Amino acid sequence: DKGGHRHFMVKEIFEQPTVLADCLTHYAPGDAVVIPEGSVDFSRTDRLILVACGTAHYACLVAKYWFEQLAGLPCDVDIASEFRYREPPVSEQAAALFVSQSGETADTLAALRYATGKAAHILSVVNVAESSIARESDLALPILAGVEVGVASTKAFLCQLGVLANLAILAARQKGRIDARREAELLHTLRSLPALINQSLALEDEIRRGTRALARAQTILFLGRGPMFPMALEGALKLKEISYIHAEGYASGELKHGPIALVDKTVPVVVLAPRDALFDKTISNMQEVMAREGRVWLVTDKPGAAAASDGVWKTLTMPQVDPIFAPLLYAVPAQLIAYHTALHKGTDVDQPRNLAKSVTVE
Ligand code: M6R
Repeated sequence: DKGGHRHFMVKEIFEQPTVLADCLTHYAPGDAVVIPEGSVDFSRTDRLILVACGTAHYACLVAKYWFEQLAGLPCDVDIASEFRYREPPVSEQAAALFVSQSGETADTLAALRYATGKAAHILSVVNVAESSIARESDLALPILAGVEVGVASTKAFLCQLGVLANLAILAARQKGRIDARREAELLHTLRSLPALINQSLALEDEIRRGTRALARAQTILFLGRGPMFPMALEGALKLKEISYIHAEGYASGELKHGPIALVDKTVPVVVLAPRDALFDKTISNMQEVMAREGRVWLVTDKPGAAAASDGVWKTLTMPQVDPIFAPLLYAVPAQLIAYHTALHKGTDVDQPRNLAKSVTVE
């Protein structure tokens, strides 16, 4: 049942404020993170290994910023198909965390089995609670997103981020890096997100108009810095999955190291950038694009829009949030850009060609 929506994907995009709010309340009903299904102790963990495929892998890349910045816990993020065959050393002081919507992805399950008996904890973040990955973990944390039908993952990604943010806050507390006041503050910021996501959903019409030009492009670049870098990867993946337009996500600082060679007036560049500490550097990157007649679509907040509007092709002004948790908010325009570009192209949004919802074979 599409609940009155044209596609499952857009229904699932619009469910996000509700499912995220439920997920956040589940893991932090008050001013502290509570992991109800069992206990996990990061205090003696010296490394976190995060392994997944596709969009779930990008959720892990975002979480790396959180675990490292908040908890001071070094992270290795790997693609499951690389991790399992590279056979990397896994120390007894490491925790290994596997993220999978379906809980049945063949490579992720094989990676989990490889780490079992080596890492101190085998953790998973899954949507399907009775899945193989959940069953074979010491602790399986459900994302509580409800059934996701669209092949392009949207609400599952957001709830994966919700769980991972809570886990990073827990790790920060257990490692003595934050006090109760800071924990409450971080949770307060997280809890503000469902309402802000609702506000950003109201930008759908503006996004739909902007995507008309994107649908004619051959190549689209996505740029971001810090935790918005993996969001650039995710924005590009979403777009290529459902619109079949070639898209690449890059860290803004990498622009000069290659991808700028692609830029001319036919190449739109979507920049996902709340005004953060490094925003001035992002402005320089945008100027480099504009000097080559590239069209910059800047997705930012009010202060970012005020600082950067000169020469920018389009600006989408998002609600303001602490940049550390901005990926949860900026997931929404990334999804809607992909969705509306695909609609303009007339592709099959819910069942894109060549893709399966659950990849249970290698
Ligand atoms: O079920 P999983 O989360 O393990 O699936 C991983 C990927 O196959 C999945 O995220 C894929 O990249 C999606 N189609 C992304 O939209």
